[in-house]
Amino acid sequence: MAQLIVALDVPSPTEALDLVDRLGGEADFYKVGLELYTRAGPPLIAALRERGARIFLDLKLHDIPNTVARAVEAAAAMEVELLTLHATGGSAMLEAARDAADGSVDLLAVTVLTSLGASDVEEIWGRELHSVREEVVRLAGLARDAGVDGVVSSAQEARDLRRLLGPEAHVVTPGIRLAGGDTHDQNRIATPEAAVRDGASHLVIGRAVTLADDPVEALARIRASADAGER
Ligand code: C5P
Repeated sequence: MAQLIVALDVPSPTEALDLVDRLGGEADFYKVGLELYTRAGPPLIAALRERGARIFLDLKLHDIPNTVARAVEAAAAMEVELLTLHATGGSAMLEAARDAADGSVDLLAVTVLTSLGASDVEEIWGRELHSVREEVVRLAGLARDAGVDGVVSSAQEARDLRRLLGPEAHVVTPGIRLAGGDTHDQNRIATPEAAVRDGASHLVIGRAVTLADDPVEALARIRASADAGER
């Protein structure tokens, strides 16, 4: 069964906890990103854990291997279950993170940020690209070889990544919208059903739930669509 992750993209810990109190166990995981973590940090994680919430900490770590390894240990000590890091940190960083995680927190590699187009990547890396997609797949392979547990990708790439990484890997896809829903600023979107059918194991849902008049009902509709994708 695909896991539903609600992104706590709200500015304050009070709003985050209110949302979690409303949704409770209807979400499988809650995602804490850079903004909220920078504001509210470990005390918020502790408050979420007290409520029984399972946590995806989306910090996209990228530093020298030793520093990343220590950060992974700190996340594991807060009982975070999913943690992101950049595949472009390289094999040594990814392997140090995997060794530090030691099975206590699952690591998800970010390959190429979806905000970057081909010309941005060419500028950063100083070479011509065939396609961003090819770089995404190459970096996902690097992460897999280093023992990382999965990747974050757009639903459009889920099928390729599932094929590359095999049935056990986590393929985590944001950009999820119900048919006819507001796309906001996302352009590579998919319905829950399509994402699951293409191999996503975890769906990240933000505004489709957080901005809904009735978040519980919105999440239930997303769950029904995701379930349809399993069949
Ligand atoms: O509101 P929406 O459903 O678009 O939010 C998606 C969540 O997934 C946000 O927390 C966003 O930062 C995150 N995300 C994304 N695209 C990526 C990676 C993460 O939208 N490529």
